Amino acid sequence: MTVRINPSILSADFVNLQRDVERIASADLVHVDVMDNHFVPNLTFGPQMVGRLQAIAPIPLDVHLMISDADRWAPGYAELGAFSVTFHAEAASDVVETARALRERGSRAGLAVKPGTAIEPYLELLPEFDQVLVMTVEPGFSGQSFMAETMPKLRTLRQAVERHGLDVWLQVDGGIALDTIGIAAEAGADTFVAGSAVYGRDSVEAAIAELRSAAEA
Ligand code: DX5
Ligand code: ZN
Repeated sequence: MTVRINPSILSADFVNLQRDVERIASADLVHVDVMDNHFVPNLTFGPQMVGRLQAIAPIPLDVHLMISDADRWAPGYAELGAFSVTFHAEAASDVVETARALRERGSRAGLAVKPGTAIEPYLELLPEFDQVLVMTVEPGFSGQSFMAETMPKLRTLRQAVERHGLDVWLQVDGGIALDTIGIAAEAGADTFVAGSAVYGRDSVEAAIAELRSAAEA
């Protein structure tokens, strides 16, 4: 299985964001956490910043929207040229319509679920999506502990993807580090977001390489 490592710039230095994005050129995608202080109790940045990141990043953008009213705002991030745009099931009123709007604008469509949100209602909609993000912490902050109780959801998703021969990436986000990435890989994840486990290290390049080999092991 192809493993993807997506460092989250939520753990980067916001006043040196260009430098910190350039430091992760050996990763697969830049994970960009957009928060509105409403869907989650934290605030980051919006389309203006994402547009600038799109212009300077050495690798494609994986935008994770933690914002209310996703139906209204998600398509705009696709128009900025993001490689993938993931919105939360809990924040959208029509997940299929929003996914189609993203694909029409040339982005991969991603569906995210918080730890307490069941995945079963979305299984039949998987063909509408290019990736599913299983949150392994409550969204909002870097540096929280991995919630192993979310792993059954990944197993269910992996089974559904295999059974129907779908090409849907399964992503995990939150508390992913050298001691947890193997657990998520074993449960079926192929795409791994890591904030503090990358930017908390002196060598982000070594961190990316070590995470990659731990996921492949
Ligand atoms: C949390 C964000 C994550 C966060 C992960 O809500 O979605 O992307 O940056 O940070 P770590 O890897 O430190 O848990
Ligand atoms: Zn994220």
